[in-house]
Amino acid sequence: MTEKLYEQIASQLRGQIARGVYPPGERLPGIRKLKTGLGVSISTVLSALALLEAEGLIEAQSRSGFYVKPVTLAHITLPTASQPDLIPQPVTSQQLALNLVKASHHVDILQLSTAVPDECFLPTDAIGRSVAHVSRRQKEHSSYYEFPPGHIELRRQIAKRLVMAGCEARPDDVVITAGCQEAIILALQAVGAPGDVVAVESPTFYGLLQAINYLGMKALEIPTDPVEGLNLGALEMALEQWQIKACVAVSNFSNPLGYCMSDGRKAALVDLLERYQVPLIEDDIYGDLGFSGDRPVAFKAFDTQDQVLYCSSFSKTVAPGLRVGWVFSHQYREKIEFLKYVNNLSAPTLSQRALAHYLQHANHDRFLRRVRSQYQRQVHRMLDLITHYFPTGTRVSQPKGGFVIWVELPIQVNALELYRLALEARISIAPGQIFSARQKYEHFIRLNSAVQWSTRVEAALKQLGQLASTLAAS
Ligand SMILES: Cc1ncc(COP(=O)(O)O)c(C=O)c1O
Repeated sequence: MTEKLYEQIASQLRGQIARGVYPPGERLPGIRKLKTGLGVSISTVLSALALLEAEGLIEAQSRSGFYVKPVTLAHITLPTASQPDLIPQPVTSQQLALNLVKASHHVDILQLSTAVPDECFLPTDAIGRSVAHVSRRQKEHSSYYEFPPGHIELRRQIAKRLVMAGCEARPDDVVITAGCQEAIILALQAVGAPGDVVAVESPTFYGLLQAINYLGMKALEIPTDPVEGLNLGALEMALEQWQIKACVAVSNFSNPLGYCMSDGRKAALVDLLERYQVPLIEDDIYGDLGFSGDRPVAFKAFDTQDQVLYCSSFSKTVAPGLRVGWVFSHQYREKIEFLKYVNNLSAPTLSQRALAHYLQHANHDRFLRRVRSQYQRQVHRMLDLITHYFPTGTRVSQPKGGFVIWVELPIQVNALELYRLALEARISIAPGQIFSARQKYEHFIRLNSAVQWSTRVEAALKQLGQLASTLAAS
């Protein structure tokens, strides 16, 4: 059905609000100004504004015009705290995860499943300039192996940036990897062997479960709270009961719940694992993407015994396709270096050098400041649509950073069924089952909000809400 003119105008204004042209609390241009600027009649402008007001996006203030409503998240109900069984499990959900990722990667499918930012949120031009510069000026960009630990200037830049996460890193303690996924795999290999038990957050990022599966290890899912994060009491019980070889946790803005543990709880986690002499593999891939204030510190900042293997990458902030990540650890450095070498000799030279050049010459911190507030808007916009269109009883996370949203649907909704129906409608979502070793979270889904905002995205969320409501009622 074709949109009426006033609906098109409303969409245009909605898009401008979502992109932050008019941030929460700001006055929209007056009716006459909109009429002239948009080249439509006053009654079309009024109908468009009435539509946005009915949606709760703007509000009229007497005699002074229309204002973008401040975003309040107070009405949102958080997902319930997770309660997995404290029993180590072989991972069984991961072929499913691979099938889903493959099925979702078609150009005409709206990508709300994988946690990959749309290129409009990445410094693509700046990194392109760095790639061009390195290809032109550094002849060895592809004729030379940049053997482990990796390109020295890149390691220097990473060590410099780690200060903001509260870590004193020496470039020599940083080993460059192919993204954070490989960093985690090498860290797991450095501290464990097939058959070992690894404690993980539940729900957790499915790439970690795939890694555990690939290494023949077992996952022990530890309960989490949507605000507090990892349940330290439950972790301690598990440490008492099982011989745990390592614990893997996201330190800031977990995937999928988006929580950020307080400094006190971070210190307590490091201390607890130190007491049991269990290495902590820290994943800080979202650490630069907090919505407010200073960059939160890493677990590693509390590590007095050198038991934390800090892993991260530039995939969420600069260029997922360059595949550059790293492990930072003094104690395990040599082992990681060796493992990197035997696995695939080195990380690509061009990628490493281009990132080093980008970090040296582009204003990465200014870029981060901008993109963080963009992500906050994206997340709020999506939360708003979820609360409007999803069935009663839906609960949703309130991430403090990053860009993924974890949705708990009414118990009758099977997330795999919703995934299939959504895919038929050319929308991909990540069903909750892949965030657990034993396919729990059957009525949960994860959504990626780092998509270019459009009427298609809005329509897709409405449609998802309708599909979920139908399943909830059946
Ligand atoms: C928590 C977390 N860790 C690791 C990764 C993998 O990152 P990379 O693309 O750098 O390998 C992801 C990607 O989605 C992630 O969300």
